[in-house]
Amino acid sequence: MGRARTRGTEDDSDVDRSPDAAPASGPTRRRFLRGALAGAVVVAGGMVWRADDQGVFAPFEGPAFEAWRSSGESGTGALAAATVLAASAHNMQNWLLHLTGSRADLFDDPRRSLGAVDPFRREAHLGLGCALANLELACPPSGLSGQTTLVPSATEPELVATIALTQADARDDDPLFHAIRSRHCDRGPYPEEAPGQELLDHLARTASAGSEGVEVRWLTGGHQLDEAGALLVDAAEIVVADEAMSRDGFAWFRTTPDEVRRQMDGLTLDCQALPALTELAAKMLPPVSRQRGDATWVQMTREVHTATARAYGLVLAPRTDVAARLRAGCALQRLHLALTSEGWAMQHLNQAVEVAEREEATGRSPNIADRLSSLADGAEVIAMVRVGRPSGRAARSPRRPHPLVLV
Ligand SMILES: Cc1cc2nc3c(=O)[nH]c(=O)nc-3n(C[C@H](O)[C@H](O)[C@H](O)COP(=O)(O)O)c2cc1C
Repeated sequence: MGRARTRGTEDDSDVDRSPDAAPASGPTRRRFLRGALAGAVVVAGGMVWRADDQGVFAPFEGPAFEAWRSSGESGTGALAAATVLAASAHNMQNWLLHLTGSRADLFDDPRRSLGAVDPFRREAHLGLGCALANLELACPPSGLSGQTTLVPSATEPELVATIALTQADARDDDPLFHAIRSRHCDRGPYPEEAPGQELLDHLARTASAGSEGVEVRWLTGGHQLDEAGALLVDAAEIVVADEAMSRDGFAWFRTTPDEVRRQMDGLTLDCQALPALTELAAKMLPPVSRQRGDATWVQMTREVHTATARAYGLVLAPRTDVAARLRAGCALQRLHLALTSEGWAMQHLNQAVEVAEREEATGRSPNIADRLSSLADGAEVIAMVRVGRPSGRAARSPRRPHPLVLV
């Protein structure tokens, strides 16, 4: 029976394929090599295409990152454009905005939540405070003066702030405003240089200006850094061992470019500042599992985040008071903007506060809560950060463009 011929191959019907036939030679061998080469090119091409599609050669790009470019808008449009560039826990962007010529209303969006990671919505409110700081900073350059009232309505808890807007001379001289588009969370290894006390004092004052009742306290000495680092590593291990915390946190991880494109929020691989080979593997292989993501996070916490923290900032404020949370969020955002404008980097590190609240929510003994409180000499810690010189690996995170958050 004649053998079928494949289209595009030369006539090889006369090639003896029996096991004891002589090895292919001459034209047959060249044909084989040509075929192998073509196959390799196709496979490599496929890998390059997949690598390119996965953002291996450059960070993820596209409409989810457009918000970082200057929109060129003025007036209330510029306020909205600045607001959405704020930090938020797990990049959940739980904000909604209602804007008129004379008023900006900032709402919490409770559909965006961290579940067991944020049982009392403290982090959600801190993120809204960050958004409020950007909104307020954007007023003077737009020729507006803003007068903020926090938690203005007892019957509408989702309305967290109202800013009365009036016309004013445009002013564009605040370095914090100018840092809004270049501020990014830096999770990479910080170089050895530690910030001096004078700078830290200046940063603490700048951060808490306008945030009554909020204090930024620094931990700098070797012993303090070790103690805070050990607490953060232990808390990270507790988070990943807690099924609900691990699951609810991982829900905000976006492991493929397609997820980033569709959802425009959450934590991306680019933002983790992973070692180059780990990042390459994470992008080339099937999407990272929760277990692998958790293990990598704990490892990064131990080997990078805490090992290269040059100072920790403790933000002190009452954790259960919504207005205090909003003021503390403003302070966090202003701190990060001030650091950015001075050429320094920051990473929020909140697992110890998250575990302290989880202990409370589940009735467990307050082990991490007690250690956190003793780190602050008994004061109430609402948030924690580390600072240092930039790693050079901080990447932009996705954002929903401001028209999507207007109500
Ligand atoms: C209240 C709050 C808590 C946060 N907690 C952490 C944290 O524990 N670890 C971390 O790496 N980033 C944390 N972040 C940073 C966010 O993940 C980050 O702001 C978000 O992904 C957006 O990225 P960007 O700040 O670079 O724009 C926190 C941010 C806020 C506002």
